[in-house]
Amino acid sequence: MTAAALGRPRLHLRVAGSTNDRARELAAAGAPHGTLVTAAVQTAGRGRQGRSWSAPAGSSLLCSLVIREPPPLVSLRAGVAVAHLVDAAAGGERTGFGPARVKWPNDVLVGGRKVAGILVEGRPQEGWVVLGIGINVAVRVRELEGELRDRAASLGLEPGSVETVLASLLEELGRWLSAEPGVVLGALRARDALLGRTIGWAEGRGVAAGIDDEGRLLVDLDGGRAALSAGDVHLL
Ligand code: BTN
Repeated sequence: MTAAALGRPRLHLRVAGSTNDRARELAAAGAPHGTLVTAAVQTAGRGRQGRSWSAPAGSSLLCSLVIREPPPLVSLRAGVAVAHLVDAAAGGERTGFGPARVKWPNDVLVGGRKVAGILVEGRPQEGWVVLGIGINVAVRVRELEGELRDRAASLGLEPGSVETVLASLLEELGRWLSAEPGVVLGALRARDALLGRTIGWAEGRGVAAGIDDEGRLLVDLDGGRAALSAGDVHLL
């Protein structure tokens, strides 16, 4: 990965389908490392595992970055970077929930609720990925509908803070994308939201037992241990 600054060039859209889609198009057309796409509103925001990602207009940081020559553990690095940003922006004391935690692989939680989501997509064979990040900066959680209201958290800032949060995010990403893998894993393990919890995934259930040196989620099963390298897990 080059040491070039993140966030330049930048394309800001008042309305986008998905900033990840725009960033992927730009990356495929040769956009440089660090290219940033942001939007005030997404009409087709996408999450992991084919889910959608929605955010009330102007309330969230919605951004996608082109990363060339991505380092190992890139998706986990992004989660660690966002967790640090969340701590700096919201402050454990202010939220009363303590440090932000990471639910493997990279959901960022405050008080057990999701404050940020990360969608990493790319063409490894072409040497790039797009890091798509959504952070609930000024979302009024009580005004959300359905199950989002029970599961979402917000930094509780004003809509005018989105740009400040973006600047801090780019700084944290610069730091964590170039950190030693052992340092990244140490930071992730210190924020592991799943450790010791009973979890389920498509093929089974067990007790989360930490993260190995390849960034896989370890799970203790009846009579053995599994190492998950991808997919979705949920708390039981
Ligand atoms: C998830 O938690 O499932 C990942 C959510 C990722 C959402 C962000 S918002 C900016 C970027 N554009 C998208 O369409 N998705 C990501």
